[in-house]
Amino acid sequence: MEKVDVLLGLQWGDEGKGKVVDYLATGYGVIARFQGGPNAGHTLEFDGKKFVLHTIPSGIFRKDVVNIIGNGVVIDPIVFSKEVDEITAYAGDIRDRLYVSSRAHLILPTHKLLDAAYEKDKGLSKIGSTLRGIGPTYTDKISRAGVRVGDILQSGFKEKMKVAIAKHNKILDQYNAEHLSDSQMMEFYAGLDVLRSFKIVETEYMTDAILSKGQRILAEGAQGSMLDIDFGSYPFVTSSNTVCAGAPAGLGYAPARTGTVYGLFKAYCTRVGSGPFPTELHDETGEALRKAGNEFGSTTGRPRRCGWLDLVALKYAVMISGVDKLIMTKADVLSGFSKVKIATSYRVGGKSTQELPFSLSADEIYPEYTEFEGWGELKDVKTKEDLPATFNEFLSFTEKYLNIPVMLVSVGPERAAIIEME
Ligand code: IMP
Repeated sequence: MEKVDVLLGLQWGDEGKGKVVDYLATGYGVIARFQGGPNAGHTLEFDGKKFVLHTIPSGIFRKDVVNIIGNGVVIDPIVFSKEVDEITAYAGDIRDRLYVSSRAHLILPTHKLLDAAYEKDKGLSKIGSTLRGIGPTYTDKISRAGVRVGDILQSGFKEKMKVAIAKHNKILDQYNAEHLSDSQMMEFYAGLDVLRSFKIVETEYMTDAILSKGQRILAEGAQGSMLDIDFGSYPFVTSSNTVCAGAPAGLGYAPARTGTVYGLFKAYCTRVGSGPFPTELHDETGEALRKAGNEFGSTTGRPRRCGWLDLVALKYAVMISGVDKLIMTKADVLSGFSKVKIATSYRVGGKSTQELPFSLSADEIYPEYTEFEGWGELKDVKTKEDLPATFNEFLSFTEKYLNIPVMLVSVGPERAAIIEME
């Protein structure tokens, strides 16, 4: 019996998971998503083209890789069908290598209207949601009122939809929000036709059969640990478990079958949407990071907030998920900064701590930094021997602090711009 390796973003999302999954995919026969939905935007760049995947796993461009959308994912058929069109135009038909869990929940068009109504109502305390209907869909799942992918193959589907939409309309009325338009509904039904043309199965049996055959699976996390519903900066989080514990539940394999846990982090930090961000830079250095890293949301286009690497938060994420191996991304973005900083502790209530406090509010905690010399261009570096000494200091400091080795360093968006450290 083989294991499921899990790849997770350890910060506030946008750590570059798409590229790394695509890179690691050659070592796996199967790639699976287990949580989140089209709030994710996993970017892959190769052959001079750029693809942003929202729902479909990042192994889809490898013809010999099977891709699974697990039960823990929420699917918007409209986004899904657009994604299918885009991939198909480049890679041909993907129906032979993409499986969808019958237990995954559907994002209905009214879920998106609810998302917008809730955010508007929150005013200044809004979460900064991507407005993709994620929160309302998971809310319906937990309150046992959701509609699942498997339902679209059942005779009672239309009635189920009617009940769900009528319930949503009642809530929308309370918020004085508009109801669904006919064209939105038609788009949804067209998306459902595309979804119905894929293999909809009990993916938990599939995963079990794959592991029993001796094939390893790579589970691809979405968002990041600091956006986890339990361990993130609540309430400014997403509505799923983004930590490793989300993988067995969102894919349907036994927790003891978890293999290597890969943790991804950027050489600095970003956050999109509202909520506390201890190492955020509000000055021209933050602006320079945004520019150098092209830090604009791949799903919403919003400018990302930028700041220094935060080892207190990272160590917490490593602990919660039991990370075995680290992958550092976007190391090239810091090229050209004369000094680079890392937060190594927080001052809270006059005391220094390396533990993440309950509240990350900016007026309660003050990060304490260690400063490093910057490094030059990394984009032409191909092997670890060619990495600049100043970068190596930054890297080994991080490894020592977290007590885990960094196995890969990504130095550019292209598939090939990655350095093996082991
Ligand atoms: P939601 O999950 O779309 O409701 O968004 C909740 C919070 O998580 C917001 O602050 C979003 O900006 C953030 N978020 C959701 N998905 C992602 C992601 O894939 N990358 C980065 N931030 C995300």
